[in-house]
Amino acid sequence: MKIKEAKFICSNTRADLCPTTTLPEYAFIGRSNVGKSSLINMLTNHLKLAKTSSFPGKTQLINHFLINEEWYLVDLPGYGWAKVSKDSREAWRKMINFYLKKRPNLACVFVLIDSRLPAQKVDLEFIELLGTMGVPFVLIFTKTDKQSAPKTDSNIAAFMQVLKESWEELPTMFKSSSTSKEGREEILSFIEEINKR
Ligand code: GTP
Ligand code: MG
Repeated sequence: MKIKEAKFICSNTRADLCPTTTLPEYAFIGRSNVGKSSLINMLTNHLKLAKTSSFPGKTQLINHFLINEEWYLVDLPGYGWAKVSKDSREAWRKMINFYLKKRPNLACVFVLIDSRLPAQKVDLEFIELLGTMGVPFVLIFTKTDKQSAPKTDSNIAAFMQVLKESWEELPTMFKSSSTSKEGREEILSFIEEINKR
């Protein structure tokens, strides 16, 4: 799919204040610093559409970006950063739960997982939550440029092995790198297919 236009629409803390629309939207979520905002910039070919930082916790709001006037990408704040207070964690939980429940146009959630790490409890818990809520999702293993391809593949296989313990069917997954652009075509084609439905 060709990205002809990508524009920032709005930032909100509340799902009921997000754009009223029937256009499909795709939300990016995962641990703080996993590369959600960077991946949005990579997919849209914009260096600075979504704000990124080497310090975790950069994205704090629900950010809507309209692509080709046809669909939305949504950048969400991350979870799992140890230095976050209990109150902030609870506020995040409420915001995300409300968002997941209140967006009937939510076509798919992309759960970003750091491809360098063994399966993390917070990621597994979040995937479990999506399953419980019946939200469609796929996995994206990020930062593949930071290690060898065999290492990425063995980490992904280990992650999937853990998922097999509780899921009958394994989710679709992609590998990505915001620097090498691995995964760009595959992820955009996936979105294009869903948009056609
Ligand atoms: P929060 O908004 O804090 O939840 O983080 P985020 O998930 O949006 O991460 P962000 O895109 O801001 O990236 C975090 C850091 O990782 C930045 O320093 C990025 O440059 C770096 N980064 C993100 N993706 C990649 C990647 O694919 N490869 C490499 N080498 N670095 C990456
Ligand atoms: Mg971010």
